[in-house]
Amino acid sequence: MATSAALVLLGVFLLGLAPSAALAAPAEAPVNPEVLAKAVDLMEQLDRMRIGLAATLEGSTEEPTLDTMKEVCMPVGRRAAAIGQENGWTVRQVATRYRNPDHAPANAQERQVIDLFSRHPQIQGLWQPAAEGQPAGVSYYRRIAMQPSCLACHGSKDSRPSFVKERYPQDRAFDFQPGDLRGMYAVSIPEVTQALETATGG
Ligand code: HEC
Repeated sequence: MATSAALVLLGVFLLGLAPSAALAAPAEAPVNPEVLAKAVDLMEQLDRMRIGLAATLEGSTEEPTLDTMKEVCMPVGRRAAAIGQENGWTVRQVATRYRNPDHAPANAQERQVIDLFSRHPQIQGLWQPAAEGQPAGVSYYRRIAMQPSCLACHGSKDSRPSFVKERYPQDRAFDFQPGDLRGMYAVSIPEVTQALETATGG
């Protein structure tokens, strides 16, 4: 399938960029292509959901309030958690310049991948086997890019809605420009889930 082929190429590309990480990784990545394709598809849907929600605010002259906020990135966070639960995965949003501190990079692999995305704007997504010390499986990472419609809440520091200034004292998620790397989705797929999906036919 075309999507999986593209992902494999990105995987190879990544290994080329980070030879030390490649040597540390097992030779055969434990990947079930169907499960990986499903993760890719669900993250595309999740990203489109946020872009669609943010677009509903465009053209509005009113400052976003707590209620409007509930209609953009909060539902995305809830949907991410639900996708994780339904599939036996962990689905996170990760950002170096985060708004919610829960979304700070949680391990070395997340830091490496987000750094890679920031240095190589052409890389949209990639998968990697779990690093040593993490439960066996693969992680799929997908870039989150800034859109013009995100500026209402992630634009200049001063222009942030007041609810953001009040509720997120540690906020770093401002001063972005459209096209900037805003963060990434990180889907951890444990090996056991992949095996089960194969056994039950997905
Ligand atoms: C109405 C205001 C609003 C708009 C518009 C908005 N965001 Fe957010 N965004 C927030 C808030 C508030 C949070 C923190 C949510 C939480 O506590 O989990 C957030 C969190 C995030 C996160 C999770 C990482 C972090 O920093 O905590 C990402 C990624 C993100 N936004 C991307 C976007 C993108 C991309 C767009 C445009 C398509 C967008 N946002 C539009 C308010 C907004």
